[in-house]
Amino acid sequence: MSMKTIPHRLYLTEDQIPKQWYNLRADMKEQPEPIINPATGKPAAVEDLYPVFCKELAKQEMDANTRYIDIPEEILDMYKIYRPSPICRAYQLEKALGTPAKIYYKFEGNNTSGSHKLNSAIAQAYYAKEEGLKTLTTETGAGQWGTALSEACSYFGIDLSVYMVKVSFQQKPFRKAIMETFGGHVMASPSDTTNVGRAILKEDPNNFGSLGCAISEAVEKAVTTDGCKYVLGSVLNQVLLHQSIIGLEAKKAMEILGEYPDIIIGCAGGGSNLGGLIAPFMQDKLTGKANPKIIAVEPASCPSLTRGKYAYDYCDTGKITPMAKMYTLGCTFKPSSNHSGGLRYHGMSPIISKLYHDGYLDAIAVEQTKVFEAAVLFAKNETILPAPESAHAILGAVEEALKCKETGEEKTILFGLTGTGFFDMTAYTAYNEGTMTDYIPTDEELKKGFDALPKIPGFQE
Ligand SMILES: Cc1ncc(COP(=O)(O)O)c(C=O)c1O
Repeated sequence: MSMKTIPHRLYLTEDQIPKQWYNLRADMKEQPEPIINPATGKPAAVEDLYPVFCKELAKQEMDANTRYIDIPEEILDMYKIYRPSPICRAYQLEKALGTPAKIYYKFEGNNTSGSHKLNSAIAQAYYAKEEGLKTLTTETGAGQWGTALSEACSYFGIDLSVYMVKVSFQQKPFRKAIMETFGGHVMASPSDTTNVGRAILKEDPNNFGSLGCAISEAVEKAVTTDGCKYVLGSVLNQVLLHQSIIGLEAKKAMEILGEYPDIIIGCAGGGSNLGGLIAPFMQDKLTGKANPKIIAVEPASCPSLTRGKYAYDYCDTGKITPMAKMYTLGCTFKPSSNHSGGLRYHGMSPIISKLYHDGYLDAIAVEQTKVFEAAVLFAKNETILPAPESAHAILGAVEEALKCKETGEEKTILFGLTGTGFFDMTAYTAYNEGTMTDYIPTDEELKKGFDALPKIPGFQE
């Protein structure tokens, strides 16, 4: 297809929505290390996950072999309400940057949750319904995941409790209102409704929360409530599996346009949008068919890939979840209250961690004022107000496009625009008024988190 015929936005047709998710682990020559059951100190069996997760999701979590997994019809029916999502050519941004690079983005913000999170929320609520569950619990950082799950739970008739990181709860009161509109019950975390929350508040009454802490509360609530299970919006293998729909659609759309990305960029919180976007391209890389450069962009205030340790750690602050080998800042690390709630997590998906460790992807850490500068540049040129999390990927793309300007290379860049920022106006106001600050943890601060990593005889001494 000649450049002139490439549209600003390309939507696949409804029947081109992928009918299967792609399980990246099936093509990884080396697998991520097994998760460890904290009760036994040994690799967890699928049954060990049953008290916390739905059975089908526990199975998906442990399945490293099935390459393609059928998407059930009822999930596809809900996907069709808001998918396929468009692949967009950022012509105006390219012009503003004066770059010869071609910039594409896959836009996942075109649904009420405002982000990619709905892709996995639907799957997880569906499997819970199939298992006959009446209640689910979860955590939410920025609020997108809680909103997505509230939507999915209301569609499938399931009651939902959401533990929302306190700082986001305070910054974004309307997020709570949306979740409640869909029937979700929302609590600021740390809360006084769980043992973990009460213990944290006793030590630090002004604790503004973290994803790790909210996860502990939600898991505790699930294991102490009959007929209730826990679901997580990122990090886990099952979530990356569901999010592969992003990459599968993107690859198909780029094929139609006669394009293949030289560089693929995603923001990295727990790793789910990045893992989903890159999945089929990483398959090409793992199988030697192509070699795109892949870049994870994380906040300098919570730099798990770029400054973390590749080690076994708990996925939560309260140390009640299984331990995963991942890039981590330590589950006791308290991320600063920056404006990208969805990227404020101490760890990283074990799949992304392993791929990064083995050299299949790069990572950069960026400061939030620069992120907002890129966000505003993007908004003014492309007319979409990006979520602060997504703006990390925008900044990554802008930096790569400017490198092309210097070298004159016409590279094709694809980045994930995970969501919109309509609930992030406190952050945009701080940026516009010049009061936004950048926080970068010192080595000394990080050391405290590393020193507290768990010791697991035979796995991590
Ligand atoms: C808009 C948006 N993008 C990205 C993320 C980061 O999550 P993940 O790394 O799992 O994709 C979040 C998480 O809340 C989010 O809300």
